[in-house]
Amino acid sequence: MSEKIVTLAELRANSTKDNLYILIHEKVYNVTKFLDEHPGGDEVILSEAGQDATEAFEDVGHSDEARELLPGMLVGEFEKNSELKLKSGAAAAQASRVSSAVVEQGSSVMYWAPLGLLAAWFGYRFYTTGAPY
Ligand code: HEM
Repeated sequence: MSEKIVTLAELRANSTKDNLYILIHEKVYNVTKFLDEHPGGDEVILSEAGQDATEAFEDVGHSDEARELLPGMLVGEFEKNSELKLKSGAAAAQASRVSSAVVEQGSSVMYWAPLGLLAAWFGYRFYTTGAPY
């Protein structure tokens, strides 16, 4: 099966309530009929018309059920090298950078807290056992 390639011009030409394409993870979906059924409302999807909706779609944390609806609305693959900067790659890289920074911060606390307690204990022992001399 050869997949249709959707151009940026086509994506932008289908950006009204009566004819709406949406771009998620480098694929274009026809959500015209789905708009009224969307649990998150039609405005949020409409506001992503003509651009890359990947980030908005992922930020909501859509369920697997929501993701399973996508193939049924597929129009085709979005053209590579379009003037529209695709978010999937960059957004994913940024998300992993942020989470690894949080992990690093967390682990340095995990490292210093017990060390501080140990130092405090030795300090306490020094003063209680060493004081008479
Ligand atoms: C074709 C694409 C989309 C499909 C198939 C879809 C499907 C769904 C489904 C099934 C839910 C119910 C909760 C769940 O199962 O996760 C939902 C909720 C939601 N969606 Fe989407 N969605 C799409 C695109 C979008 C986009 C582009 C946005 C944001 C711009 C969006 C925003 C929301 C919000 C905010 C909710 C939460 C509603 C609530 O809990 O009150 N959705 N969507």
